[in-house]
Amino acid sequence: MSTPPTNNPQTQTEASPPPQTGGCPFKHPAEIPAAPAGCPVLERDNPAFLQNAHHTYAMLREQGPVVRAPFAQTPLDGVRQDSRAPKQTGVVNQRLFVTRYDEAVEALLDERLSSDFRKGLPPEQRERLAYMPEEAKPLAYSLIMRDAPEHTRLRKLVQPSFTARAMEALRPSIQKITDALLDRAERDAAERGETGPNRRMNLVKAFAHPLPVTVISEMLGIPKEDQAQISAEADRLMNDESLGRDEKRRERFRAFSHYMEQLFERKRQAPGDDMISQMLMTAEDGDKLSHDEMMSMVFLLFFAGHITTVNLIGSGVVALLTHPEQHAKMIADPTLAKGLVEETLRYWGPVDFMGTARLVTDDVKLGETPIAKGELVMIGLASANRDPEKFPNPDAFDITRPEAHRNIAFGKGIHVCLGAPLARLEGQIAFETLFRRYPQMRLAVPVEELKWGVGAGSGAGLRGFSQIPVFF
Ligand code: HEM
Repeated sequence: MSTPPTNNPQTQTEASPPPQTGGCPFKHPAEIPAAPAGCPVLERDNPAFLQNAHHTYAMLREQGPVVRAPFAQTPLDGVRQDSRAPKQTGVVNQRLFVTRYDEAVEALLDERLSSDFRKGLPPEQRERLAYMPEEAKPLAYSLIMRDAPEHTRLRKLVQPSFTARAMEALRPSIQKITDALLDRAERDAAERGETGPNRRMNLVKAFAHPLPVTVISEMLGIPKEDQAQISAEADRLMNDESLGRDEKRRERFRAFSHYMEQLFERKRQAPGDDMISQMLMTAEDGDKLSHDEMMSMVFLLFFAGHITTVNLIGSGVVALLTHPEQHAKMIADPTLAKGLVEETLRYWGPVDFMGTARLVTDDVKLGETPIAKGELVMIGLASANRDPEKFPNPDAFDITRPEAHRNIAFGKGIHVCLGAPLARLEGQIAFETLFRRYPQMRLAVPVEELKWGVGAGSGAGLRGFSQIPVFF
């Protein structure tokens, strides 16, 4: 599925804010190598970029562990400027890109690389944030974009729902949802007169999407009768990346918040055995989530639970079906589902690099590379996961690879994915069940027809296929 890298148009260039190096002994930023001429703009929601991204990452890894590279503008860059303005297309920001594994891990662990996009902005830019529509704030100011100590406090309040023990308790219900979805796909095929192994399904629509969405909806305690509509609303919000700029989108945000507010009220009156009820009641050392914090947490969990795992399941199935020797291993030994999850995360993880840059709040060193205060850094999770120093023969897909679990698809450090144990469990159950029930499952279209990053979750810039037609 790889063709030579393409050049994206670069109509405008906006440099990072000038690093505040003062008289420090750190290298002048110009000494960090620049991406070679012809390097495509790194743009997570451009299918053409995703198609050849691993080729680009390999080229940049060769260049150095940290490289100055061109990135497309993201919605939050827009917020940095002026969210009342229409989204500018073709704007390119020069950012530092961390390409190699060791440096990527260091960057993720170093809290001097701030996740709070508001920090360090000059006053007039901070002022512009006031223009950010209220409706979009729950997404932009969530846990994932806070630093310690605010982050520590918020994370402590939700962590208990995601412990290994809590996950094990979910296993039977995830298995039940998995079986029910596949039973339905079989019934739908039977109604069309199709029989196995030549029944058809769109794996994403029938299975990979509804599985994690149903699981997170049930965990949060969204009533069954509301789940389909709320999930469709969330998909519409996610697939439009204007972050609340146009009135229609702001209306959608408002409707979503309004629904959640009413749900919180119902759960306050009659708490259930679900996360929203728990979050409303939980008090850590007398501490509670405020209303705004609740809203932003539920937004984050609902959206994160919606899109990423869909792509893990879809990409894992495609990778396996296009590597017949790996497929044969999996059919022979379904306990390899764990290896399939880890290798998929490493090989085709859903998050190539985070959507917002980390801001360097003090002079730091990543490996041997000094990075000056004020720089904006993008951490290449997908690039690190193909670093040949850590993963021998990195472009080979091997579900028995012993070091696959060292992938950093879920990040590391204080922001390491809260939902990682859940996503891993869902992935394992999904793969084990699919390949046990349908050992003859195969793609129903040539693999070249599958396109990255179009459709479900694409507005969020994730690596995944929106359509995966299979025979099962
Ligand atoms: C394969 C599936 C998933 C992948 C690849 C993934 C990836 C990530 C990554 C890379 C981060 C770190 C972001 C950063 O450092 O800025 C993250 C954070 C987070 N993820 Fe996931 N995620 C997945 C599934 C989920 C699920 C299912 C949930 C919730 C139900 C979830 C909830 C979160 C939350 C709340 C954070 C923020 C944690 C914090 O800032 O402390 N994720 N995820």
